Amino acid sequence: MKETILRRKSTRVYKKHHLSQSEISEIEKVLDNYEGFKGPFNNSIEISMNIADSMTIEGKKINTYGILRNVSAFIKGKCQNNLEALVDFGYVYEMIILELTKKGFATCWVGGTFDRKTYPINLKENEILPAILTVGYSKSISLINGMLKVAMSSKRLPIHDIIINYADVVTNFDMIDLLELVRRGPSASNKQPWRMLIKNNMVHFYLKRTPDYPKINLGFDMQILDIGIAMSHLEIGLNSYDIAFNKNVIKDPEIFEEMEYIITYELSK
Ligand SMILES: Cc1cc2nc3c(=O)[nH]c(=O)nc-3n(C[C@H](O)[C@H](O)[C@H](O)COP(=O)(O)O)c2cc1C
Repeated sequence: MKETILRRKSTRVYKKHHLSQSEISEIEKVLDNYEGFKGPFNNSIEISMNIADSMTIEGKKINTYGILRNVSAFIKGKCQNNLEALVDFGYVYEMIILELTKKGFATCWVGGTFDRKTYPINLKENEILPAILTVGYSKSISLINGMLKVAMSSKRLPIHDIIINYADVVTNFDMIDLLELVRRGPSASNKQPWRMLIKNNMVHFYLKRTPDYPKINLGFDMQILDIGIAMSHLEIGLNSYDIAFNKNVIKDPEIFEEMEYIITYELSK
């Protein structure tokens, strides 16, 4: 999974391709594995898949801030509209993305403004469809993908910007290597709102919201999904280094201006 994190990138222009029954079964197997799977705050997510119809394959587009074309399948899911459920949604969806990436599928998180009514999912009170995942096969080097990559993907904040106390950690090379996996996570509009404080074998996660991110338009706080994604990457890193951990919401976290404390990972070494 560690290599998969480094390899994954958002794909927006896919090859025109109808999934075969065996490809559909492969995706369904991944989804079945995550049915009922609990995120860090103990919520599971209801997930389902739509195979794109020929209309879509022929070029109907999903217009978000990036335009998605020739998508072969959509994965949709719903959750309650609160912080813990959204963290869990980000966490579980990202695990699904990484499993699909490992199997050779190209994907993209789509949480921006798009017509959510096109993806009916029977929402109950206070439930939302925070994002869909698009799945398909990557069209080999396309101009559009290439341009978008420059615009949105390849850039990440330097590691010292996302570790609050970088100076204390800089000589711990294993830790820096591990946190690189968090740094490489996808985030809405590539805003990378995760911040970490590393102290006494603990990793404290904070959310540094982007001012004026369009919370009002969407009706939910999309950047919380990014935190769930970052947590899944941290856990994959810890597992790959064989570092056991517990996670807790501690009572008196350090407070930093313009940051919301989310959760703490306590590492065994
Ligand atoms: C929660 C979330 C929502 C996103 N929504 C969209 C979207 O609506 N449209 C889009 O083109 N990309 C969307 N993305 C993809 C990001 O723009 C992308 O992850 C980021 O630019 C980093 O690029 P990379 O995924 O190639 O590493 C979203 C990503 C996340 C995590």
